[in-house]
Amino acid sequence: MTGDRSFPDGFLWGAATAAYQIEGAVSEGGRGPSIWDTFSHTPGRTFNGDDGDVTCQHYRFIDDDLELMKQLGLRAYRFSIAWPRVQPDGKGPANQPGLDFYRRLVAGLRDRGMVPVATLYHWDLPQALEDVGGWTARDTAERFADYAAMAAEALADDVGMWITLNEPWCSSWLGYGTGEHAPGRTGTDLSVPAAHNLLLAHARGTEVLRRETKAPVGITLNLGPKIPGSTHDLDVAAARRADGALNRLFLDPLFRGAYPEDMVRLFSGQRPTFDAVEPGDLSAISQPIDFLGVNYYHTDVVVDPGRLSEARAAGYCASPQEDTGEGAALRAVTVGRPALTRTATDWEVDPAGLTDILVRLRDEYTRAPLYVTENGSAQHDYMGPDGVVHDAARISYIREHVQAAKDAIDQGVDVRGYFIWSLLDNFEWAKGYAMRFGLVWVDYPTGRRTPKDSFGWYRRVIAGNGLPEPD
Ligand code: FCB
Repeated sequence: MTGDRSFPDGFLWGAATAAYQIEGAVSEGGRGPSIWDTFSHTPGRTFNGDDGDVTCQHYRFIDDDLELMKQLGLRAYRFSIAWPRVQPDGKGPANQPGLDFYRRLVAGLRDRGMVPVATLYHWDLPQALEDVGGWTARDTAERFADYAAMAAEALADDVGMWITLNEPWCSSWLGYGTGEHAPGRTGTDLSVPAAHNLLLAHARGTEVLRRETKAPVGITLNLGPKIPGSTHDLDVAAARRADGALNRLFLDPLFRGAYPEDMVRLFSGQRPTFDAVEPGDLSAISQPIDFLGVNYYHTDVVVDPGRLSEARAAGYCASPQEDTGEGAALRAVTVGRPALTRTATDWEVDPAGLTDILVRLRDEYTRAPLYVTENGSAQHDYMGPDGVVHDAARISYIREHVQAAKDAIDQGVDVRGYFIWSLLDNFEWAKGYAMRFGLVWVDYPTGRRTPKDSFGWYRRVIAGNGLPEPD
């Protein structure tokens, strides 16, 4: 625990969103279709058949949203640029109205004293590129470089930090492994090459950004500890495999220039798998970056699938369905800890996992500055008769995780910022509108925004550069 509650000077308090989740206006301004348009319009793919056609109408309410951010006192705003707005078919010339929209956004942020943090790819691949292989095709990385050049050329003067990709684990494993996310294809023989091509896109994008801008360039990964459910060798090995697929499969190539040996062994034989790697790829992927973005939501306890009855006997909630997303090859099952609080997405609340992952990154991978680029929770929010959303559970989630980030800083880890997911309730991918993560309640039929209690509370955190005394 710590004495001093305040954060380092200049700590970047922020909030995050992503284009497809908030913009709507999918056919306006010359935008082309993305894999998420196709996926969400395919029956059975998203909860309730929800899609991002309208969502929060941020495209229309951009000025109101900028004012909300100012009211909140944000020091930085992390948003994503929709590739299909900038380059509707994923190739060919830039679409000016698309670039103009983001110019307006970054200028609006600068005018209000906020740092624009731009993510180039938050999952909305132009459908035309998916039609020729998507992330399983190596050429998609080259297409990404062209798009990155267009975005950088138009916005370089104003964007304060660039993030090449958001969570390539989700794009590869959920998009091409389990099929839970767009484009909804399945197989480890697809997801491992997709992961590699995404990392290659990060490398090509970084090279382009280095030419176009002096602003810091990084990547955002979703990371989290995988803890063995017991000291039994089989559970320890299962947790190590799960750690390999979520964490090391991305961290090792980025910071050590090599894929982890155990993962190469595990997924080899499921061709083409690591055959996608060509000479020179890994040195490009491991070129230095200026910061690492960490998205943290939960920690998982993992056991070997053959040891579920022992896990149950030890008090875990264990069902064979709960694998970790990478499919049967991984032979790792996530089990529940009944003592922990869960959010509306059923994720366990475990703030210590955030401290652990930040410390581990410093100890094992990099001394580059770290930013928590996403952290937050969906809660069972409702608007009360007083017209207010009293989201005490969200406040307590954020309080505990901000404290966890502070604990890492107190251990000497160079954490420079913290971004709440999310500014607004929005389209939560396959979970549709059922899950609300926002500091601001959105009434979808009208688009009306109402700040929740957590909004006022987070404003106090930012204004005080640290956690207020508990009420
Ligand atoms: C992350 C995504 C973000 C949001 C949160 C809840 O994996 O990056 O878009 O959906 O989860």
